[in-house]
Amino acid sequence: MAIELKDNKFHMFNDEMSYIIEISRQKDLLNSYYGARIDAEDIEIQSNLPGAFFCHADDNAPSYSLSVLAQEYPSAGASDFRSPAYEITNDKGMHTPELKYKSHELVKGKPKISGLPAVYTESDDEAETLIITAADEFYGLEVRLFYTVFEKLNVICRHAEVKNCGKSDMMLNNAQSVSLDFPAGEYEYIHLEGAWVREKHIDRNNVHKGIQGFESRRGASGHTENPFLMFFDKGTNEDYGNVYGISLVYSGNHRFIIEQEAYETVRVQAGINPFEFSFKLSEGEVFTTPEAVLVYSDSGFAKMSHTFHKLYRTRLCRGVWRDKVRPILINNWEGTYFDFTKDKLLNIADAASQIGVELFVLDDGWFGHRNDDCSSLGDWYVNEKKLGCTIAELAEEMNKRGLKFGLWFEPEMISEDSDLHREHPDWSISVPGVKPHLGRHQLILDLTRKEVREYIIGFLTDILNNANIEYVKWDMNRNITDVYSASLPFNRQGEFYHRYILGLYEILETVTSRFPNVLFEGCSGGGGRNDPGMLYYMPQNWASDDTDATERLYIQYGGSMVYPASTVGSHVSAVPNHQVGRISSLKTRGTVAMNGAFGYELDLSLLGEEELNEMKEQIKFYKENRELVITGDYYRLLNPFTSRHSAWMYVSENKKEALVYYVVKTARPSNETVYLQLKGLNPTAKYNVDGKIMTGRTLMNHGVIIDDTEYDGYCRIIRIHNI
Ligand code: GLA
Repeated sequence: MAIELKDNKFHMFNDEMSYIIEISRQKDLLNSYYGARIDAEDIEIQSNLPGAFFCHADDNAPSYSLSVLAQEYPSAGASDFRSPAYEITNDKGMHTPELKYKSHELVKGKPKISGLPAVYTESDDEAETLIITAADEFYGLEVRLFYTVFEKLNVICRHAEVKNCGKSDMMLNNAQSVSLDFPAGEYEYIHLEGAWVREKHIDRNNVHKGIQGFESRRGASGHTENPFLMFFDKGTNEDYGNVYGISLVYSGNHRFIIEQEAYETVRVQAGINPFEFSFKLSEGEVFTTPEAVLVYSDSGFAKMSHTFHKLYRTRLCRGVWRDKVRPILINNWEGTYFDFTKDKLLNIADAASQIGVELFVLDDGWFGHRNDDCSSLGDWYVNEKKLGCTIAELAEEMNKRGLKFGLWFEPEMISEDSDLHREHPDWSISVPGVKPHLGRHQLILDLTRKEVREYIIGFLTDILNNANIEYVKWDMNRNITDVYSASLPFNRQGEFYHRYILGLYEILETVTSRFPNVLFEGCSGGGGRNDPGMLYYMPQNWASDDTDATERLYIQYGGSMVYPASTVGSHVSAVPNHQVGRISSLKTRGTVAMNGAFGYELDLSLLGEEELNEMKEQIKFYKENRELVITGDYYRLLNPFTSRHSAWMYVSENKKEALVYYVVKTARPSNETVYLQLKGLNPTAKYNVDGKIMTGRTLMNHGVIIDDTEYDGYCRIIRIHNI
């Protein structure tokens, strides 16, 4: 790993990758190259102008134009007509600054980003960081660009700091985390789109002329667009081709754009959505963008995913649970919804402890007078009338049965019908005097306000201190509307969305460090905030409210592009499935759900001995294999979006163990024989596959023959070990 400056070129590289920034004679920062390893001294600035209608950036070199040059952090209105990386307006209304290289520094390791989640290093040898300062002296503007390069992973982390070095105020109207300019070429991209109960679906597109992209305007990263982009050479697949993965470590409004302009070059940007965004910077004030994590793979999607998985599992997630296998849980939500009593819960717990479950999670409905979703959010005191005991007593009952105890919260929310709202009607987000729009009958607390943040930290601290709660499910069940904060002056209202997220991060940092042994799971109506920002505080995330096995094949396949299995909450629920009405066998449901932080979400007390025994076997199997699921390299074998079946596998780092999953999504008569070609094994090593000895190369090139009769949901798990 190294970062070198030679002949005005910063070369950030490791064995497999190069990223080159050139300081031009005119002091512009040019985004000269990003991709497989090359030698920086061999490349030159591209300077030929393909036609007329360009503006010159240097009177002495008329062919030098920012209109076509690849740039690192492009300005607006200063002769580049493509999307700018940032926009400011000064107190006179001027808004065309132009950044020029000023200085740089190199630091070992990776500096922390204050107030924001980010990838970290555990020792300074793991990475090196280049900080380039560029400035516009006339505007009194300084931008610091951060690049951290990892030694052992093809990762570059980028973010920017924008500073007002002048005397008067300026407004920052846009500040992207990353801007990249790729040379003319044929490209494609994938993003993870969806909706509630249908998150993280693969959408693959050709890059075409003009601006394309995706965004969130919801005040959360959202169900509809995950903050993640794969940009790649046309035709790239799992194993071949150049891929650039860009993942934004942010939980709020994001925007990703891909802009192919007239001369076929492509600009890619990711950052906070400029929609309704502005940030006032007074003298000396600094705005820090969230971090963008860039992963480069020279050989397809699988390698990119391996890098993200390893990085996020070990250098984004934190805390005592980071490296531990996760307890198998039973959650009562789909089993009882709001309709439960202590006895009903204990009956479920009795069955759960018999089959080997390790954690009981009490979901929504235990507080205030909440028997449906119309009331009580904000009244975080137990409904003893309903539960017949305190939370501490219930936790004790669970512990007696050998189960840990976990509890559901939706801390950011407030119901109109709540004591909290009656006491503090102004604490919710709304425009004074205008009736706010409810979502799931509820409003959202204004986390930009200190007293609101203190209240949330206060009640969580009390409850977690007063009962043996070892797991918290942190939910968030609507998106933000009626944006306005009584605490912000008129020229700071554009800061609201970002300040909300900063407020949330402050609460999460405080609560998770105050209770380091509690396992936190993020949730937002399933996958409404499945983003790296949340993973920094909570090492797992409920992937979707859709628990149907077939639907989960899509969700888990899409999510696996960037998120490691250890972070994916995944449960077996009842049939007919509550979201789509499908009936799948317990075997199929278990096979699919075992690919993450595994659990059950149904009323176990209603099941017969046969089903409970089958679950007991599933749990035994998962316990034997969960280490591999969580730490192994994940390979996608068959794509459920393009075929009628799905398959994937995990391979241990030493390639001695593997676990293969195969599921038929839709069976078809007169079917072909499936040769399931495995991946990631040692070609010459011998493996035991269900008693048969085969070499890695046979398994990877010829494949395992799946010749059983097929039906919808037919599935197999094949355990492989080196002999
Ligand atoms: C959200 C969650 C569910 C459940 C309900 C409770 O929808 O995603 O898992 O906790 O809230 O209201």
